[in-house]
Amino acid sequence: MELKLAIFDLDGVIVDTAKYHFLAWQRLGREIGVEFTRTDNERLKGVSRMRSLDILLEIGGQERSDQEKEALANQKNTWYVEYIRQMDTSEILPGVLPFLEELRDAGIKIALGSASKNAKTILERVSLSDYFDAIVDGNVVSKAKPDPQVFTLAASMLSTPSQQAVVFEDAQAGIEAALRAQMMAIGVGDPETLQDADTIIPGFADFTLEDLRKIWSAR
Ligand code: BG6
Ligand code: MG
Repeated sequence: MELKLAIFDLDGVIVDTAKYHFLAWQRLGREIGVEFTRTDNERLKGVSRMRSLDILLEIGGQERSDQEKEALANQKNTWYVEYIRQMDTSEILPGVLPFLEELRDAGIKIALGSASKNAKTILERVSLSDYFDAIVDGNVVSKAKPDPQVFTLAASMLSTPSQQAVVFEDAQAGIEAALRAQMMAIGVGDPETLQDADTIIPGFADFTLEDLRKIWSAR
């Protein structure tokens, strides 16, 4: 079957926003007396905002009411938005732009499948919005990855069968979501944490459409 759609996760695949999430969570941690390290931050990859807060509170051995959690998550997001507002095109990860251009020129549809409620702001900041035929983000989905909803919704918005879509993801929960959606799952980053992926690439720096087509036809 022909490849028709490429779906990209955002954080960690197109841009490295993990550093801004870290700064904002660390700042919140300081405010409420939780020491939050870079190693702890690894646990938040691909995880929703509320679940991330639960992890932070768990690290600090703290418990909060739902109302308090809502306020803490909002505070973290206010700081996070301050950081991402400063982003520009220099933050697009190496090789991403030429790869998107190759896909577009070849007539392969491009979609975003992200847990983030800030996805549209980030795409605008780095001037990539126009490359995406569909955007599915944390404002649209009701079920977090590893639920396949984020990816199946992107495929249905573009009237494409799952079997003709490939997903690029840096988080294990996202790889699982892609496989559950019956899509090809390409891990971007660390082979240790992305074991279930169909293939793992270090990034897009040396990755071309020809490479993707080879992986696709060998599957
Ligand atoms: C994911 C990130 O893409 O989005 C997570 O990997 C983050 O770390 C999640 O918590 C939600 O993002 P936001 O911007 O809605 O808080
Ligand atoms: Mg990610």
